[in-house]
Amino acid sequence: MRMYDIIVKKREGQALTDEEIRFFIEGYTKGDIPDYQASALAMAIYFKGMNGKETATLTQAMVDSGETIDLSAIEGHIVDKHSTGGVGDKVTFIVGPLVASVGVPVAKMSGRGLGHTGGTIDKLEAIDGFTTEITKEAFVENVNSHKLAVAGQTGNLAPADKKLYALRDVTGTVNALPLIASSIMSKKLASGADSIVLDVKTGSGAFMKTLEDSEALAREMVTIGKELGKNTVAVISDMNQPLGFEVGNANEIKEAAEILQGSDVKDLRELSLEIASHMSVLAGAFEKPEEARKALEENISNGKAFAKLKEFIEAQHGDGSMIADLNKLPKASHEVEVKASKSGFVSEIDAESIGVAAMYLGAGRQTKDDAIDHSVGITLKKKIGDKVEEGEALVVLHSNESNPVDSINKVEEAYTISDEETQAPTLIHNIIT
Ligand code: URA
Repeated sequence: MRMYDIIVKKREGQALTDEEIRFFIEGYTKGDIPDYQASALAMAIYFKGMNGKETATLTQAMVDSGETIDLSAIEGHIVDKHSTGGVGDKVTFIVGPLVASVGVPVAKMSGRGLGHTGGTIDKLEAIDGFTTEITKEAFVENVNSHKLAVAGQTGNLAPADKKLYALRDVTGTVNALPLIASSIMSKKLASGADSIVLDVKTGSGAFMKTLEDSEALAREMVTIGKELGKNTVAVISDMNQPLGFEVGNANEIKEAAEILQGSDVKDLRELSLEIASHMSVLAGAFEKPEEARKALEENISNGKAFAKLKEFIEAQHGDGSMIADLNKLPKASHEVEVKASKSGFVSEIDAESIGVAAMYLGAGRQTKDDAIDHSVGITLKKKIGDKVEEGEALVVLHSNESNPVDSINKVEEAYTISDEETQAPTLIHNIIT
């Protein structure tokens, strides 16, 4: 078999066989196939696409290129969730304890963040002592006893994806649906869960800007999951503005904990309950999402879900008193308001700019080795559709500088205030099963 023939075949729009896809992935991972041929194939896939079967084979080949996590020692049907990424997305800290509180095991592999705000692990590390560096045995033991554990990604999961993603990044081939879908799903499948709920974001602050593209990506990923024997559901949710009111590390932990205590931040609570309901149904704990939702809401009201958050934090050596009393979470030294320059209605909040403003404060990393400041962040005071008076605060910056000019400018850039009344965006656009 020759890589040249595979490239030409795809260039001509033909479907590749399983053998051809595996030949490419195995050869590329080993270094037998050079970058220039891999990038030519990626570009051919960008233009000619792949059918569902080809995409599933590509995904499985990338899973098989490295280690997979064996979670068979965990009792019960394990569900995982994955978000395609957005600003203020702290849903994991809500749905993890929530789903665990109805007895469904959640075994989560997570990463750190490069970019706007921290990743899941960075945010959890806002809590003193909390660690994700636990042994595989402790991870399994924690899921069995507490129904929830979060571990840092160790091992060599889907190395073919790592190599190919880096190549796509510099060859203009990131935005090819089959390549995105197989990339995301290969990492999820290597992490060992039985079922997966995908939160596919759509809008200005999302990787996929249009609903049409987001739905296409969601469909592709659900098809891959099913082809490879995992129950998969995708929720398409809005990312035309940050989710909830808080952006940052301690800020997001605080807001998530408050949701579990019953606070009613509408978009965040609603999306979390939707995702948690699907996770619980996929795990077989309930027949229908509506039944699951009732039980989950009940566990927020009776305190069980919040208690589960504290239990999970303490099981991973975190200081539970910081959850019991959220005022103990790290706090920045200054609160700086960014005010509206005119009266009207908030019509747009560019989520990405809010993320960048938070990063400038120190909530995220600009380079891989940057340290995160857990105490800084942004509290949104106004969201899309809200009426605002000139001089009223749009956001509060939690900063360790008295005059964080770059962040202030970025927030000013993010907000659009118009004279006409604007509706808040629809939160959940579609569910793909
Ligand atoms: N995220 C991934 O993990 N892979 C892609 O290809 C795009 C986004």
